Amino acid sequence: MKINSAEIVISAAKPNQFPGGPFPEVALSGRSNVGKSSFINTVLGRKNLARTSQRPGKTQTLNFYFINERFHFVDVPGYGYAKVSKSEREAWGKVMEIYFQEREQLKGVVQLIDLRHKPTKDDIMMYDWLKHNELPVLIIGTKADKIPRGKWDKHTKQIKEGLEMADEDKIVVFSSETGQGKDKAWRELSSLLFDN
Ligand code: GTP
Ligand code: MG
Repeated sequence: MKINSAEIVISAAKPNQFPGGPFPEVALSGRSNVGKSSFINTVLGRKNLARTSQRPGKTQTLNFYFINERFHFVDVPGYGYAKVSKSEREAWGKVMEIYFQEREQLKGVVQLIDLRHKPTKDDIMMYDWLKHNELPVLIIGTKADKIPRGKWDKHTKQIKEGLEMADEDKIVVFSSETGQGKDKAWRELSSLLFDN
């Protein structure tokens, strides 16, 4: 996909701040530090559009990026991060629930999982919850540059089995360091955004 324009529209803390308009969107979800913001920057070919952090869990808003004046990417706060208070976590849980269950523009969810490791309990819970809500899911196995190419298949299988992935859901081996998987990711993203 050729990217002509990409800009942040809003960091939304609550549902009434979500952008209006008819544009389809995909949300990026995954454990803190898994590489969501890096994925956005890499596929858009923009170095610092989505802020990457050494401090996990820093993103505490839904960040909407408007691409080619045609669709949105939504960077969702990483899950599985304990260093926020219980009430904060509950308030966030509500915003997220409203977003995933009621957002009409949402066409699918990109769930990022570290290719090196088995899916965590949180990864499995999130995937099951998305499927329960009938959302198409694209799995991205991140940080592929950190394992030898010869082991990619084995690690891909580990994720598929760990999640008990539905046959219709795709998985892409990806690296923000090398750009591995970028083209395949775009084919799947386009299909989520524009084919249904
Ligand atoms: P939160 O916003 O805190 O939830 O994190 P995030 O999921 O957005 O992760 P982010 O993109 O900020 O990346 C976290 C760290 O992992 C950074 O230090 C990145 O440089 C590193 N990282 C991300 N993707 C890759 C990758 O493909 N390969 C390698 N080697 N490092 C990566
Ligand atoms: Mg981030």
